[in-house]
Amino acid sequence: MLERLNQLEREAREALRSVAGGDDLRDWHRRYLGRKSALQDLLKGLGSLPREERPAAGQRVNAVKSGLEEAFAAREEELRRTRLEAGLRSEALDVTLPGRPARRGRLHVSTQVLRRICHVWAEMGFQVYRSRDVETDELNFQLLNFPPHHPARDMQDTFHTTREDVLLRTHTSAGQIHAMREHCPEPIRVVLPGMCYRYEQITVRSEIQFNQVEGLAVGKGIRMSDLKGTLTDFARRMFGPATRTRFRCSYFPFTEPSAEMDIECFLCGGDGCAICKRVGWLEILGCGMVHPTVLGNGGYDPAVYTGFAFGMGSERVAMLRHGIEDIRSFWANDLRFLEQF
Ligand code: DAH
Repeated sequence: MLERLNQLEREAREALRSVAGGDDLRDWHRRYLGRKSALQDLLKGLGSLPREERPAAGQRVNAVKSGLEEAFAAREEELRRTRLEAGLRSEALDVTLPGRPARRGRLHVSTQVLRRICHVWAEMGFQVYRSRDVETDELNFQLLNFPPHHPARDMQDTFHTTREDVLLRTHTSAGQIHAMREHCPEPIRVVLPGMCYRYEQITVRSEIQFNQVEGLAVGKGIRMSDLKGTLTDFARRMFGPATRTRFRCSYFPFTEPSAEMDIECFLCGGDGCAICKRVGWLEILGCGMVHPTVLGNGGYDPAVYTGFAFGMGSERVAMLRHGIEDIRSFWANDLRFLEQF
């Protein structure tokens, strides 16, 4: 029996040395230490030995068994370490290789111009007032003096939502009412920047979304000359101190009188060029004295208060500034375009 044991132990240890891992290891364990192993058979056979031989034989079987178990654990650990080391070697990083430079982001050209416009107005004492993109028909049109079916609505084809009377604002003027109702009866000087939406045919000159900056000043004794002076000051801060402006009569339902302001072309100085289409002037914004009805809708008594308002498209300003010819470039997400600014 002892003979058989020694032989078994030798054979098991030898087999263990050539085990390469995973399944082999499990097979070895089943074969030499499992319930159906030769060692187990020897243990069961102890009972048939003569009485006096049993203790010594029993001890020896147990010693072989625990010896093999230890050897198994050691081999298992050794294989695990080898595998780990091989893994680390194959995935080694060369930390001395130069890295890839991080690409720096930048502000969209529209955002840059929008911020520049708001910055100039802030210098002049106008606070930014944030208003919502989703509006009611009442705030976007009716309270600004566009009754239902008013022909001026035709100038602003509208995206409606599935909720009746809820729409995407077609101009930032909708925020005027919010600002007035919030500040009444205090005087106001605010600019309202933001995205506007119109159900338009997309062309080189018109997009379905664009940014506007609206302005509103309400107080006692504000006159048309304040409007002209303030807007001319803005134009000089924005486009250069020598910039000349001119005002042309226009019509908007929410202002009376209404006007449009042109600036002298900053490219040709008024001589006529491609940017100003040979007229020497660039149309830059709409403006006017706030209509008494609109003042009333905002909570101000039109017998006591007056005000002026204006609205400009910031992509239009960007197009003029940078000589951009196609308004569709702004939202086409072409990096070759965007990275120029
Ligand atoms: N809301 C006008 C538009 O989108 C622009 C405008 C004109 C705004 C005159 C004004 C204004 O505040 O007084 O076409």
